[in-house]
Amino acid sequence: MAEARVGEADERAMSLPLDELGWVDKDKNDPEYVAKREYFEANNGIPGLEVFAPDQIEDITRVFYRDGFVVVKDALTPDQLEFMRGGVDRVIHQMMAHDKHRVGNRGSHRYSFGGASLTGHLVHEPEWAMLIDLPTITPILISLFGSRDYISRGGGGDFCLPGTVQYQPLHADMSDRRTVTRDDGREFTFGSFHDPRGILTYRDLPCPYICCNFTTVDLNPINGPIRQIPGTQHTRESIPTLAEEPEWMKLSTVCPAPAGSVVIRDIRCWHGGTPNLSDEVRALPNCEYYAPWFREPLRRTLPREMWETLSDHGKKITRYIVADPGEDVVTGVHPTMGITPVRDRPAK
Ligand SMILES: [Fe+2]
Repeated sequence: MAEARVGEADERAMSLPLDELGWVDKDKNDPEYVAKREYFEANNGIPGLEVFAPDQIEDITRVFYRDGFVVVKDALTPDQLEFMRGGVDRVIHQMMAHDKHRVGNRGSHRYSFGGASLTGHLVHEPEWAMLIDLPTITPILISLFGSRDYISRGGGGDFCLPGTVQYQPLHADMSDRRTVTRDDGREFTFGSFHDPRGILTYRDLPCPYICCNFTTVDLNPINGPIRQIPGTQHTRESIPTLAEEPEWMKLSTVCPAPAGSVVIRDIRCWHGGTPNLSDEVRALPNCEYYAPWFREPLRRTLPREMWETLSDHGKKITRYIVADPGEDVVTGVHPTMGITPVRDRPAK
């Protein structure tokens, strides 16, 4: 069979219910997946995972700085959760209409929302704009950064469809500044922090960059909960490959956690996606923030008219990503789902 390519139109996608978009070219009753599901039911999840209420700010701050991530329930009200689910449903359908074989942009059946968006973000969508300044989360961010002057860099997130059968390798979402030369000879610079003395790395800094991932379904052992390795936000150890990774790390997943929660992450902490062997889409739309003293190159991805709907605080923290008056933000789905990082490409 010819290798499935991303970018092939799926005429059926728009008419299917969200949770029926997965298990493409795969049989969920395959004995291998049935056995894996049973194994996950029995073993998957961080033992004794603590889930806090939004007003437990001292505990949330302590655990965030201890583990590099923390889970907070009731981050969204029931109405906000329903609204967010509507946005997730709409955008995933738009994306799947371009990817008949679910090739994905983070491995088969696995996707980055931002990676597939022409702007690299989704804050032009009202559901994602809602996440920027939530009454439950803003006081927590102020505590974590020790200041109200933190910065919104936008948001997107990720999802895995039912039938995501592979792990995503552990990784961090940032690095020291580096310049790479692409195949066409063009140079690209990633990251920001660089110590010309060669002494400090981004891992030595206080937390520079926080990602808030919101749960639109209950995270459970079989629906692809994110795996987080506690306490790795400052380590300079090399991140294990899938072949090197011990089993306890593969099972170190954030579950159970109820829908409407948020997983607040120091994005240097080692993490990765896990198989979704269930019958539901596991989406984690997100919002991302820099510490007041940290900055990476930012794109103007927030349309002016969306910015006008934000609170005063929301307007202030998005000042680096709001479009200028009269400036058009070109939005839409990248027909080939954008660029897949090397780590997430299938082995040749
Ligand atoms: Fe990541």
